Amino acid sequence: MMIDIKTEIGGIEFDNPIWIGSATPTWDGRSANLSFESGASAVVPKTFCSEAEWRKHPRTGRMFLKKIGKTNIGMLNIESFSTIDINYWIKNELVKIDKRNGKFVASVLAMPDKKDTAKMINKIARTGLVDMIELNGSCPMHTTFSDSNMSEMIFEEVKNAKNSTDIPIIVKLSPNVTSLVEPSKAAKQAGASGVVISNSLKSFGGVNIDTGKPRIRTFSGYSGAAIKPIVQMHVVEVAKNVDIPICAVGGISDYKDVIEYIMIGASAVQIVSSVMWNGYGIIEKIIKDIKSFMELKGYEKINDFKGIALKEFTSMDELVREKPKFACVDQSKCIRCYKCEKVCFYNAIHKVDNKITINSNCDGCNMCVQMCPVNAIELKY
Ligand SMILES: Cc1cc2nc3c(=O)[nH]c(=O)nc-3n(C[C@H](O)[C@H](O)[C@H](O)COP(=O)(O)O)c2cc1C
Repeated sequence: MMIDIKTEIGGIEFDNPIWIGSATPTWDGRSANLSFESGASAVVPKTFCSEAEWRKHPRTGRMFLKKIGKTNIGMLNIESFSTIDINYWIKNELVKIDKRNGKFVASVLAMPDKKDTAKMINKIARTGLVDMIELNGSCPMHTTFSDSNMSEMIFEEVKNAKNSTDIPIIVKLSPNVTSLVEPSKAAKQAGASGVVISNSLKSFGGVNIDTGKPRIRTFSGYSGAAIKPIVQMHVVEVAKNVDIPICAVGGISDYKDVIEYIMIGASAVQIVSSVMWNGYGIIEKIIKDIKSFMELKGYEKINDFKGIALKEFTSMDELVREKPKFACVDQSKCIRCYKCEKVCFYNAIHKVDNKITINSNCDGCNMCVQMCPVNAIELKY
C-alpha cells in the first residue's frame, strides 16, 4: 500500500500535516532549519510586529509548567512577539533557511494600525522566500476583542492583509470566545485561505501558598496537553459549520492527537509545547507513527479519514432520546479492588460475597467504567 500523507491549504501542498507553530522553537533561522530537519512540512516563526515597545518581553522567567505529579499537563507563558526587528530577520535569518521541501509561513501581528500590518506583510512577501502569511489575529494586545466584535475585526484584518499581498493568508484565531464559527465565516468572506485554531488560552497561573503570591504576576497564555479538549471543541464547531480549511493547534503530544484533529476536520496541525518539552525529535517520530497507523487501518491518504468523527457528533437532545445503558461487570476480569463501589454516587455498586454487584440504581453515568483499572466494567443495553 502506498501511504501519502500530503495535505493542502490555500492551494499550497504540504509534504505532511505537521507544522511547527509560532513560538520559541521557531525563533530564528537556525531554529527554523532544525524544525525543517525534524521533518516538519512547514514552519511558522515567532510573530513579527513593527513596534519596538511590543517586542519587549519579561526576562525574569516566562515559561511555567503545570504538572500533575511529575507529568507536564500544560504550560503558562508570558512571551510576547519576536524581539528581533523584521529588517534584521529578513537580512540575517530568513536568507539562511534551507527549506528543502518545507514551507515557510510568516506570522504577522494584526496590529492596531492596519497600515503597519499591511506594510509588514508586503515587506515579508516581497522577499519571495515566504509561502504563506499567518495573520496573528489573536494577540493579547487586542484586549478589545470579544464575542460581539471579533467577527468584524477578523473580517477587516483579513481584508487588509489580502490587499497587501497575493500570497495566501491564513488567520490565527483566539480560543477566548464562546464560538469561532462567525469569526471563521468572516475570515472566509474576507478571502482567508484557512483558519488556525487556535492561540493559547488566557489563564491565571495559580498561587504559591507558602508566600501567598501569584505564581505569575500577570495573566498568561496556557498551552499543552490540557487545552486540547477546548481547542477541539472550536475545531469541531467550525468544521461542522464553515467550509474553510483548518490548521489545528493545541495540546498535541503524539500521533494519536494528530489523527484525532484530522478526524474532526483539520487539514494540518501545528505543534509547540511538546517540541519545547521534548525537542524537535518528536516530529520525526510522530510522522513515522502516523504512517504506521494509516497502514494498519488501510488509509492511503489523509482525506480517507479527514472529518470522519464529525458524522457521529450529535446534540445532547439526541443522546437523551437514545436507549439507556447500564454498567455490567465481567467477574472473570474483576480484581476486587472495589474502586467502582467508591465512585458510584448512585448507590448502585456493592460488594456482596467478595464480588461486585450492580443493582437497578445504575444511572448509566460511566464513572465506574472509567475508573476500573482492568476494564472489567462495560455499559450495555
Ligand atoms: C512560549 C510560547 C510562545 C508563543 N508565541 C507565540 C507567538 O509569538 N505567536 C503566536 O501566534 N502564538 C504563539 N504561541 C502560541 C502557540 O503558537 C500555540 O498556539 C499554543 O502554544 C498552543 O499549541 P501547543 O499546545 O502545541 O503549545 C506561543 C506559545 C508558547 C508556549
